[in-house]
Order: sequence, then structure tokens, then C-alpha cells
Amino acid sequence: MPRIAVFVSGGGSNLQALIESEVGKHIVLVIADRPAKALQRARDAGIIDTLEFSRKALGRERLCEEIQKAVEAYAIDLIVLAGYLSIFTEEFSARWRGRMINIHPALLPKFGGKGMYGRHVHEAVIAAGEKESGCTVHFVGEGVDRGKIILQARVPVLEGDTPESLAARVLEQEHKALPAAVLRVIGES
Ligand code: GAR
Repeated sequence: MPRIAVFVSGGGSNLQALIESEVGKHIVLVIADRPAKALQRARDAGIIDTLEFSRKALGRERLCEEIQKAVEAYAIDLIVLAGYLSIFTEEFSARWRGRMINIHPALLPKFGGKGMYGRHVHEAVIAAGEKESGCTVHFVGEGVDRGKIILQARVPVLEGDTPESLAARVLEQEHKALPAAVLRVIGES
């Protein structure tokens, strides 16, 4: 039975979707890099241990060291980044290559990279006049938002869309795509 850790920084709607799916029974740990609302969702789900390591207080190197100790202590097999906004050290990413996946709110390789997260992504998609956007679940590789794509879901960009309206349409797809991708990776679909 694979043991999964979910990493969060924000509201945690993707975490909620995972908890409510077949993936839920595999989640043994939730880690946040700030006082994220997502932590409360994890606690409300009852079965999940939560840890908060402040990126601000620790800095990137120590943050990764603390996280590594925690995931080792919990014997984690797979890390799922569900709206996690800190960037890892090369060493940490290399150690977890093939065992760490991320969800991004656009159709990578477009609209990815440093600074492309949350609202910024949807603003850029609208500003570029794209007719289509969506989400991408991918393995975390070298470089931000790089790595083998596991699955993508598409949505139209509509006339008059705001970053908020587009984000909501994409998020609805994220909540299906992330659990489906995790199940594929752990060989349960
Ligand atoms: C999601 O849209 C996720 O794709 C995005 O943050 C949001 C988190 O929402 N992630 C990134 O932008 C990473 N580059 P949630 O906390 O409600 O799951």
C-alpha cells in the first residue's frame, strides 16, 4: 500500500479532492510551508498527520532538510504537490525524481516556470489571447514546471473571462485530474 504525502501552501481544494477520492486512504501526511488553510482541511479529515515548516523562517536549504527528515520518518513513497509554492533544492528534487508529482493550472510547457503560479498563470493566459487553457499533472523534473507529463485536461477560455472565472473553470478540472493522475502513478487505475 503506497504511502503518500501531500504538500500544500494555500486553500487546499486539491487536497480535499484527493482526500475524497480513492487516493484518500493512501495519504498519511500533509506538509505546508506556511500557515495554509489546507492544514485545517487535513485535520478535519481526521486521519492525517500535518506538519508546518515555515519557508520564511527556515530558508530553502533547511526547509528541504526538515522535509526530507519528515518524509523519511513517515516512510513516504510518493509526494504530491497540490498547490505547493516553495521551490526545492536540486538535491531534494533529484532524490525524489520519479516519486514526486505536481499539478499546474495551465497547459505546460506553456505558462510555466518561475513566478507562474495561481492568479499570475491565468492573467498571462488571458493576456496572451489563448483560446484554451487547462491543467497539467507532471513528474517534477529539473527546472520549475518541467518533467514528464502524466495527464492534461483542457477548458475553453471564454470572451470576458477574468483570472477568477478562468481559475474556477480550471480548478474544477484539477479536482478530477489530480486524483486520476495519482491513481495512474500508483498503478490503481
Ligand atoms: C491550484 O490551482 C494549483 O494548480 C496551483 O495553485 C492552486 C492551489 O489551489 N498551483 C500552482 O500554481 C503551482 N505552480 P488549492 O490550494 O485550492 O488546491
